[in-house]
Amino acid sequence: MPTPPDILRAASAELVVTDLERSRWFYTETLGLVVTAADDDALYLRGMEEYTHHSLVLRRGEQPALARLSYRVRTPADLDAAEAYFGALGLPTRRVPAGTTLGIGEAVRVLDPLGFPMELFHDVTHVPRLTQRYDLYHGVEPARLDHFNVMTPDIAAGHRFYSDLGFRCSETIEDESTLYAAWLARKSTVHDIALTGGAGPRLHHIAFFTPEARNVLHLCDVLGSLGNQAHIERGPGRHGVSNAFYVYLRDPDGHRVEIYTTDYYTGDPDNPTLRWDVRDERRRDFWGHAVVESWYREASTVLDLDGRPQQLLERAEPHEIDVVVGADGFTAARESLRQ
Ligand SMILES: [Fe+2]
Repeated sequence: MPTPPDILRAASAELVVTDLERSRWFYTETLGLVVTAADDDALYLRGMEEYTHHSLVLRRGEQPALARLSYRVRTPADLDAAEAYFGALGLPTRRVPAGTTLGIGEAVRVLDPLGFPMELFHDVTHVPRLTQRYDLYHGVEPARLDHFNVMTPDIAAGHRFYSDLGFRCSETIEDESTLYAAWLARKSTVHDIALTGGAGPRLHHIAFFTPEARNVLHLCDVLGSLGNQAHIERGPGRHGVSNAFYVYLRDPDGHRVEIYTTDYYTGDPDNPTLRWDVRDERRRDFWGHAVVESWYREASTVLDLDGRPQQLLERAEPHEIDVVVGADGFTAARESLRQ
């Protein structure tokens, strides 16, 4: 096999939204992302610690969907490596010229084996640093895009594909016979991509990192004050996996967005994988709070390289939500309290 491209990090997602103005309100006024560029059909957004053009593109369309998950690679030559590598795997691969997406240079697009439209780029437009423009901070004070979380029926296949690409596995949820979820990283955090078991390909969520837990709490307070509490789906809470303090929101089209802080360093190449037993009620919420069913069941449609919705494949292995002992509030720990 050719050498895989050297991927730096999850860099950008492109979401199709049906009402660009309503999405602008949600992502800029409520969350506090900054508009780098805008036209009639798209918004290009970034966080306060992002020095490249954007980390989120919102594009106007008929049906909500994920159009693309983009990663930055170390050098321009990594685009050649990507074409050779994905070509050798027999995956649909195409090269697109600079400027196909505003602010991004030449790119390689590939439909990964799980059915997700993946893009790799190196050249990018750098933009002014806003890190110390405290006068511009508002909303949840989002620092940067942190990771993608995708739903796929075959976690083991996804784990193989991303491991072969040089991702390190930081954590898993599993039992003796089944892998339910996996967290994989190129940068030195818990993940750039997480795999969640379920019918797929679907986008489970994108996540933005924020400096402090108080940012998450303040966001929830503001949403309540404005009567917009329906945008809060799950949390706030403390994850077992990743240790992050989190809240999950649904945007005006139902795309799920996580706001997240305090995960940990994973940059040593031999960093051990932390394996959570699926029966441990702390894995999804460290305090043992129940996980709302929509969080396990609902996710965004994914488009192929030509913009067509992908067919769903059902999961053949057990679903995490069906594991009763130690999961979702019906726990061994609570049984013992009653005795
Ligand atoms: Fe996440």
